[in-house]
Amino acid sequence: MTSMDWGMKNRISKIIHPDDGRCLMLAVDHGYFLGPTERLEVPRRTITPLLPYADSLMLTRGVLRTSVDPETNVPIVLRVSGGASIVGEDLSKETITTSMEEAIKLNVSCLALSIFVGSKYEHQTLASLAKLVDEGERYGIPVLAVTAVGKEMARDARYLGLACRVAAELGAHVVKTYYCEGFEKVVEGCPVPLIIAGGKKLPREIDALQLAYDAIEHGAVGVDMGRNIWQSDYPVPMIKAVRTIVHKGATVKEAYDLFLKEKDKEKPRSSEPQKIISR
Ligand code: 5RP
Repeated sequence: MTSMDWGMKNRISKIIHPDDGRCLMLAVDHGYFLGPTERLEVPRRTITPLLPYADSLMLTRGVLRTSVDPETNVPIVLRVSGGASIVGEDLSKETITTSMEEAIKLNVSCLALSIFVGSKYEHQTLASLAKLVDEGERYGIPVLAVTAVGKEMARDARYLGLACRVAAELGAHVVKTYYCEGFEKVVEGCPVPLIIAGGKKLPREIDALQLAYDAIEHGAVGVDMGRNIWQSDYPVPMIKAVRTIVHKGATVKEAYDLFLKEKDKEKPRSSEPQKIISR
């Protein structure tokens, strides 16, 4: 085996656990286009209590450097695409915003980039993915392609199946998408592992647990979940519950019972936005 192959396999095993082939990635990269997202206003405060339960952490270099201690041993999935914001011209106008050199210095296990299939800047984002995969292959760093869905696109199996397949054909090692009806078709057409995003916070925790369960039942290797964990009033009980579905094969009822049990041990978080304090 070459050093490069070894490095690539080693890094992939940090993201998708080789013992059960599953993945629990905690997404905290939202600020890269949304700014201080509710309950992620002070990233360190949101991230720190959740770290012991996450297999890996997805974020930008800015939040990594300021809000996660370098001594932590959680594998890092570095978001390296951006360049557009929620108030800008077009969310799909993304480019690569972080160099490979920087990713290597930060000792990341995976690189993440969004593609916007069917959007105005589709070509630019797909070309960026191909370039990033070439660079990742050079240094043994896998690439996670995120299938971002423009407002005008339907989150259905036809569209998501197309976007995931395009990402895999361009060389992505892992693809993140959304769960949808007919998800098994999306999985079938995508020759690399799929993980799902949680999406907007669902009103009830049990619904988010059902989402995670259904996605895994229908072929996802795990989740890259954010808001449905840290926007819950009980983020630690919630990540523990998601974890038991991902890694222990728990049913939704078993996971929800665990959530309720863990929740009883904790005080709910304030629903006030987090105060931003200078460090
Ligand atoms: C934003 C992202 C997020 O990481 C992704 O959407 C997962 O977070 P959530 O579960 O909150 O949807 O890629 O572009």
